[in-house]
Amino acid sequence: MNTALDHNRITIDVHLTDTHSETLDEEIRSGLLASPRSLPTKYFYDDYGSELFERICELPEYYQTRTEHALLATYADDIIHITGADELVELGSGASTKTRVLLDAMAHVNQLQFYVPFDVSEGIVRRVAQELAAEYSCLRIHGVIGDFLAHMEHIPNGGKRLVAFLGGTLGNLKPDTAEAFLASVYNEMNSGDYFLLGIQLITDIERLEAAYNDVSGLSAQFNKNILPVVHNLTGANFDPNAFEHVAIYNQPDHRIEMWLRSLCNQTITFPRLAWHLPLKAGESILTEISTKYNRQLAENVLTTAGFTLREWHTDSQELLGLALAYKP
Ligand code: SAH
Ligand code: TRP
Repeated sequence: MNTALDHNRITIDVHLTDTHSETLDEEIRSGLLASPRSLPTKYFYDDYGSELFERICELPEYYQTRTEHALLATYADDIIHITGADELVELGSGASTKTRVLLDAMAHVNQLQFYVPFDVSEGIVRRVAQELAAEYSCLRIHGVIGDFLAHMEHIPNGGKRLVAFLGGTLGNLKPDTAEAFLASVYNEMNSGDYFLLGIQLITDIERLEAAYNDVSGLSAQFNKNILPVVHNLTGANFDPNAFEHVAIYNQPDHRIEMWLRSLCNQTITFPRLAWHLPLKAGESILTEISTKYNRQLAENVLTTAGFTLREWHTDSQELLGLALAYKP
């Protein structure tokens, strides 16, 4: 499957190697000292975390992925026709599963040239590049492994680009970070390029909370996976068994919050910083937010960044929104 030809069509850049361990320790400490205490979301996604998330996407309770997939399938031809794109850039691309719907639509009209998956999770970008090179015979792939909050300028300069940001990942960013992120996307785009944003919509609490509290316990496992990742990075003695998974809907801020609640009185030690964090039983660390939007909120964040909304699609139950916007 991995012919020499495939390798010729794949380029992978890695931009994650330059963080010093002290800087990283300090970043993590400052989050743990903040109110509420928190850990950086990107640390969910080591190779094992990415695998767990792929399995979450198939859970019966996790309606988001299949709803977005169906929406893309309905509108992909239309989107590719409007945008005229021959290059797809995908931020937080993960397993690039839904992406194939867009790549197929581009291939159907002979417009498929270039795919740029951009993700912090190295193993999955490398895997996807191999898979897609085998599946699409002329496609060139330029993977970027980096932090989309820090390395956006490393997106290669290309043709007629469609930039996709799916999976509701925008909702995982705090409002000010989301605003800065969209501004940096806008900044990287050329006039006339399109931006496709998949966004999770505000719906009933029962459905929302069930999606993050599945009966099989995968969401809990995924949430706790941030602890071994932080342990490997810092040496801090986090024990996943000493915490429980809590996912609740915060109605005023219209977002799901994922917490890890300490099951006992414990002390976390960061050896390089010689720093101790005492945690009481019941005390919680915020690991993830997942903000839900409506059309107006989505349109507001897009226009604040400078985009013009061209199309807005939702499913019949209004669980998911797909916004197609462009840089004028
Ligand atoms: N787009 C996929 C995956 C969504 S999960 C889907 O719709 O199913 C969020 C993805 O964003 C993960 O693959 C994760 O590794 C990536 N990610 C999270 N924070 C990131 C960051 N700061 N920089 C780059 N990628 C990030
Ligand atoms: N991006 C996903 C979302 O907001 C993240 C996610 C899904 C998640 N399930 C989770 C994070 C469970 C922690 C725990 O929907």
